[in-house]
Amino acid sequence: MGFLYCIAVRFASWSSLTLLLANAAPHARSQTSLVTDLNPYPTKPRITFRADGIFKITVFCDLHYGENPWDAWGLQQDVNSTELMNIVLADEKPDYVVLNGDLITGENTFRQNSTRLIDEIVAPLNTAQIPFSSTQGNHDNEPNITHLEEIKREQLVAPLSYTRTAPPGIGGEQGPGTYWVPVYEHIDDPTPKLILWFFDSRGGFSEGDNSTALPDWVDDTVAGWIQSEAEAMDAAWGPAASSRGAIAFVHIPPHAIQALQPDLNSSRDPGLNADLLGSGSTQATTDSANLGKDEPFWDALNEYVPNLHAVFSGHDHGNEWCVREPTKNVIFCFGKHSGYGGYSDSWWGHGVRNIIFSSPDPKGPLQSWIRYENGTINANVTLDASYN
Ligand SMILES: *[C@@H]1O[C@H](CO)[C@@H](O)[C@H](O)[C@H]1NC(C)=O
Ligand SMILES: *[C@@H]1O[C@H](CO)[C@@H](O)[C@H](O)[C@H]1NC(C)=O
Ligand SMILES: *[C@@H]1O[C@H](CO)[C@@H](O)[C@H](O)[C@H]1NC(C)=O
Ligand SMILES: *[C@@H]1O[C@H](CO)[C@@H](O)[C@H](O)[C@H]1NC(C)=O
Ligand SMILES: *[C@@H]1O[C@H](CO)[C@@H](O)[C@H](O)[C@H]1NC(C)=O
Ligand SMILES: *[C@@H]1O[C@H](CO)[C@@H](O)[C@H](O)[C@H]1NC(C)=O
Ligand SMILES: *[C@@H]1O[C@H](CO)[C@@H](O)[C@H](O)[C@H]1NC(C)=O
Repeated sequence: MGFLYCIAVRFASWSSLTLLLANAAPHARSQTSLVTDLNPYPTKPRITFRADGIFKITVFCDLHYGENPWDAWGLQQDVNSTELMNIVLADEKPDYVVLNGDLITGENTFRQNSTRLIDEIVAPLNTAQIPFSSTQGNHDNEPNITHLEEIKREQLVAPLSYTRTAPPGIGGEQGPGTYWVPVYEHIDDPTPKLILWFFDSRGGFSEGDNSTALPDWVDDTVAGWIQSEAEAMDAAWGPAASSRGAIAFVHIPPHAIQALQPDLNSSRDPGLNADLLGSGSTQATTDSANLGKDEPFWDALNEYVPNLHAVFSGHDHGNEWCVREPTKNVIFCFGKHSGYGGYSDSWWGHGVRNIIFSSPDPKGPLQSWIRYENGTINANVTLDASYN
């Protein structure tokens, strides 16, 4: 009773969520179906496909708030980025938003108030009442800020944040932001149709005065976690292969992507291709001694997560393309540099990647494209078995 009351109160503070509950009521199985085993969000509204089967995700990458706050242009960049978010959210009306890393230019922030930038970043999402979650990037780990601090602040100030942390011992040094979010076809379904996976690729620098470079790959402890989570899902919900789709988000691209850039075909793999991948562009490459360290993660993701439609990264601001990674037979896509902060070139522009599921079919195609702030569309591709 107390628990349900608590849910009701939380829902009541958000008019759209109250609507969700009201819609659920006529065909509710029982109130307890809202808290099915394995649902990591018993007190939050379920993420669902629309009644017509569509599910739309808008991805903001590399927002880079807080760059040079001591200069007028630094502050103006954040004003511009917030304006971009407001324009895009109003036009696109996504069902879910992903902030795919480098939310903050952490090397320019101050110890006493660095996470206040999270308040600015989530404000447009709070106003629009859109559920979302984030990955953190290499610029989100710096002497004056950590991934964990950003996550805790987000959880505190954004009621519709679905960002979580990995269990103790998973994720490695300063890599807590690894988790998954279930998406249901209908609000009272016992099992989800789609899993959104999020991974922390770390990088940047450790906290404090004696800061040192952090590993820039998803830690190998995450590989075993992927396997055990996938097994727990199969046990609770039935085999994923026949009943669930998946997509994944990680800020720094897996290293396997780097070798594919020279053979990109701009009509088959459209999108801006202005950022030549080199040291530091993909996981485990800032130090050649670390080559291959992201492989346990990459192997486990592709082995244990069936129906993986695509993997999405940010990090390399001049790239927008998708490509099929042939060794794993999985599609990879860059997002779009969204923030006015962070390195750029005048002609790259700013925008988002949209991802549309037209049905909850776990093997169905996705449509995805880049949308610039001014509304122009680029690199619209169908991501399915025949892609590339
Ligand atoms: C902010 O956006 C305006 C136009 O939208 C642009 O002219 C200006 O250079 C941007 N300012 C910064 C600091 O990025
Ligand atoms: C961290 O914050 C302190 C205090 O606000 C500031 O003096 C220092 O310059 C910052 N360090 C870095 C590396 O930005
Ligand atoms: C943080 O503190 C610094 C130094 O006092 C100030 O310049 C900056 O505007 C503050 N940033 C935020 C996000 O509050
Ligand atoms: C940083 O290193 C210096 C020199 O080794 C040491 O004196 C100092 O205590 C260290 N500071 C911290 C916060 O660990
Ligand atoms: C590039 O892709 C297009 C469309 O799929 C194809 O017609 C063309 O032959 C490809 N070019 C090369 C050089 O592979
Ligand atoms: C919209 O912005 C993009 C990226 O800056 C630019 O390439 C394109 O020309 C713009 N379109 C219009 C219609 O202004
Ligand atoms: C992308 O292409 C698909 C398939 O051709 C089309 O249905 C859709 O309207 C396009 N999206 C945009 C935003 O142009």
